[in-house]
Amino acid sequence: MLFKQQALLRQKLFVLGSLAIGSVLYLVARVGTLDRPICPIESRLTPPEPEQIPLRTLQFKRGLLHELRKGNATKEQIRLHNLVQHLPRAIIIGVRKGGTRALLEMLNLHPAVVKASQEIHFFDNDQNYARGIDWYREKMPFSFPHQITIEKSPAYFITEEVPERIFKMNSSIKLLIIVREPTTRAISDYTQVLEGKERKNKTYHKFEDLAVDANTCEVNTKYKAVRTSIYTKHLERWLKYFPVEQFHIVDGDRLITDPLPELQLVERFLNLPSRISQYNLYFNATRGFYCLRFNIVFNKCLAGSKGRIHPEVDPSVVTKLQKFFHPFNQKFSQITGRTFNWP
Ligand code: A3P
Repeated sequence: MLFKQQALLRQKLFVLGSLAIGSVLYLVARVGTLDRPICPIESRLTPPEPEQIPLRTLQFKRGLLHELRKGNATKEQIRLHNLVQHLPRAIIIGVRKGGTRALLEMLNLHPAVVKASQEIHFFDNDQNYARGIDWYREKMPFSFPHQITIEKSPAYFITEEVPERIFKMNSSIKLLIIVREPTTRAISDYTQVLEGKERKNKTYHKFEDLAVDANTCEVNTKYKAVRTSIYTKHLERWLKYFPVEQFHIVDGDRLITDPLPELQLVERFLNLPSRISQYNLYFNATRGFYCLRFNIVFNKCLAGSKGRIHPEVDPSVVTKLQKFFHPFNQKFSQITGRTFNWP
């Protein structure tokens, strides 16, 4: 009996002893690994955060599109990655000097957007239009199936024939219009023409003489820079073909001072996930404008032709123009539902 109890006790002691030694060995091993760096194989096995997978793929895809633009991608790569030249699903139709280039370049920050870099002038130029839709398609960049193509030709907004022609191509296309305070836009328009004349050593009229009729002292509505700024007149022609919901109005003044909220509204309008962030936009004090950051190595500002210094304009002419545009602006806001900080 006594012998049996002693054997049982020895067995218990053995089990307890083994447990104690096991625990000590485990603790020694654990402490030993605490300061050790994670070995490369372990880190490779760590599952990536779900966000990182599509981003890496898109970076790779962007790289390939870049090679393609430079003419370095092979036909095999084009076939393998289903690269196609799509007709645009959205067009920035205007307005000239509203900030159309800045808008296109900023939207191109979005991984699901590809831009047609040049203004194609397919719908406003009869010669180009006569070349047919395949000519237009060939002008488009290659894109992946999940991407949308955007082109911009600001002359579309004011050219009579364009709404019908775009409607015939795609009646459900999305149309973007970027507008700026109309008097500032007219002066910006004038500045661009003036610069062209100066480059050719030609003289040009003063803005005041063009914008105001010397005989009547009224605003000269025959002057193109004035006519282009009567946004509602042009929009009304477009509304004969497209419902107002197919347009999105971008506030060009706000795109200059605070671009991100404007871009987020466009992302929503285009049914794109929100991908453009504050990281992609940084203010460049030398330029006086926001510039674009694509990634850690690649960033760019717009060309010097964007953001010219405007000539001084007689304040009484500025006021006259602002009063002239006011009722048209109100109508434009009524139709589109967008309000602006314009005088
Ligand atoms: P100004 O040159 O009058 O300043 P568009 O591309 O339609 O021709 O418009 C040009 C205008 O875009 C410029 O007019 C400028 O004010 C505006 N703009 C908006 N954002 C800009 C940016 N980030 N960089 C440079 N110009 C920008």
